[in-house]
Amino acid sequence: MKILGIESSCDETAISVTENGRTVLSNIVASQIDEHRLYGGVVPEIASRRHAENISWVAKAALEEAHCTMDDIDAVAVTYAPGLIGALLVGVSFAKGLAMSAKKPLVPVHHIAGHIASNYISHPDLEPPYLCLVASGGHSHIVEVKDYTHYHVVGRTRDDAAGECFDKVARTLGYEYPGGKFIDAAAKLGDPKAYTLPKPRVTGSEYDFSFSGLKTAVINLVHNAQQKGEEIDREGMAASFQSTVAKTLVEKTLLAAKDLGYTTIGLAGGVSANSGVRTLLQSECEKRGYKVYMPDLKYCGDNGAMISCQGYYDFLAGKRADESLNGIATLSLDAISE
Ligand code: KG4
Ligand code: ZN
Repeated sequence: MKILGIESSCDETAISVTENGRTVLSNIVASQIDEHRLYGGVVPEIASRRHAENISWVAKAALEEAHCTMDDIDAVAVTYAPGLIGALLVGVSFAKGLAMSAKKPLVPVHHIAGHIASNYISHPDLEPPYLCLVASGGHSHIVEVKDYTHYHVVGRTRDDAAGECFDKVARTLGYEYPGGKFIDAAAKLGDPKAYTLPKPRVTGSEYDFSFSGLKTAVINLVHNAQQKGEEIDREGMAASFQSTVAKTLVEKTLLAAKDLGYTTIGLAGGVSANSGVRTLLQSECEKRGYKVYMPDLKYCGDNGAMISCQGYYDFLAGKRADESLNGIATLSLDAISE
């Protein structure tokens, strides 16, 4: 079964064709990041306009690369939530038009469920149930993946998402937006013990995250040094910050795994590309004899293949939308699992 998957929730216009939820036949990603970088973050109005300009040719290219026409496609899947509302609406409107004109079923897909599904592409043997750490620019979740379409969020961030924190710390250290990958590269050259940073803690829920205190600590250290005319060891700060985030993400995930009885762990979302998080999760899982699954680097960030793969499982579960489908800016995974 071939699914055409459309992703436009943030700044990537991405469309893919996959087969049976696991095999990628095409994966086209039109990134707008060079334009948003000028403003230090994603400008929603610009994102919507660029999606509208790009979406038709991205769809054509995805079909061509998969050697398909719409006649070969069994269903159209689209990210409808969560995300920037104007950006989502471009994908949703296009998907509705395409599905209706080609007389194909329309399948609404949750963006975070899509990130989780990126592991099905990279790991044909992975099957639920398992526990997944999802860390992206907009979310930091510990999720029980009960089956392919049912989730329970056991931990979430109380303030900044992990990726957002990477990007803000990167900006403070003088790196371009989005700075997560620059912190990652700098951290490889620095000493993770160069700076002592507060370990994020949340009272009341041991699986929840809070990254704003850590972010503020880095910003204060950098500004104080600047005021005194002192040099900041950028690589050392990047390494200290990254190791603090990695420890927090991994410790809480493994605590939840132990308490809830999971021995299979997944990692997903843009921050799953981070080498510090990947290495620590891998080694801590190995120590415990847990199985660990991480997406290939090209499927960590937003892409159409993850939406297409999740669309396959949502299709099998009977999820369908009609022409009344709307974009939804905020929608939890728990809400779609009832
Ligand atoms: O999942 P994603 O592509 O978009 C959202 O759904 O938010 O995640 C983007 C986030 C950005 O904050 C970006 O800086 C971060 O993922 N990111 C990284 C790395 N690569 C991307 N963070 C840390 N290390 C990386 N190597
Ligand atoms: Zn994402």
